[in-house]
Amino acid sequence: MDKVEISSETILYPMPCCIVGTLVDNRPNYLAVAWLTMVNPKPPCIGIALNKVHYSNGGIRQSGSFSVNIPSADMVEVTDYCGVVSGRRYDKSKEFETFYGKSSGAPMIKECPYNVECRLINVVDLPSNELFIGEVLAVYSDERYLTEGVPDMKKVNPLILSMPERSYLALGRRVGSAWEAGRKLIRK
Ligand SMILES: Cc1cc2nc3c(=O)[nH]c(=O)nc-3n(C[C@H](O)[C@H](O)[C@H](O)COP(=O)(O)O)c2cc1C
Repeated sequence: MDKVEISSETILYPMPCCIVGTLVDNRPNYLAVAWLTMVNPKPPCIGIALNKVHYSNGGIRQSGSFSVNIPSADMVEVTDYCGVVSGRRYDKSKEFETFYGKSSGAPMIKECPYNVECRLINVVDLPSNELFIGEVLAVYSDERYLTEGVPDMKKVNPLILSMPERSYLALGRRVGSAWEAGRKLIRK
């Protein structure tokens, strides 16, 4: 075997980086989250894995809601800020203009290119984290980030995290068509 074994921190990367919003004691709080994924298509559901020590967890349980806000790469500083200070000591909501959608428990960030409003449907208990699973109630965006009604990643310019390199990256170039690029390898 020519491969070398590397740190087990280097498992999945790069990761999309978002800002999760929730209400804690009626005040919007925001934290940076990179451990997130779609977990179900119909109804669409998102899972976010949060360490049990965070201030936000109690708010998600209390309100039964959270939001996933997708920042652009030029929001790198404010996203990082939401990931290095806790709402226990800092009012992070001062950094953003907050808006609400269908539910009153999921504060969302106006400055982010798009926002996903979720209703909490399940919590999976893990040794140090809680996996919060939310059903998507609605997704909001601004016209200027869309092409033919869907988010255009060149316009959104999402923020990517490489955990092992402790670095933020921006998206690279388009390299192929999804669910199509591999079809020519299908042998009859
Ligand atoms: C880029 C970045 C990504 C992060 N991703 C996660 C994550 O996926 N899960 C998690 O529990 N904490 C994550 N954190 C840490 C929390 O965002 C951080 O501890 C935050 O201060 C908690 O805020 P709160 O106490 O106000 O809830 C991340 C931090 C950064 C900087």
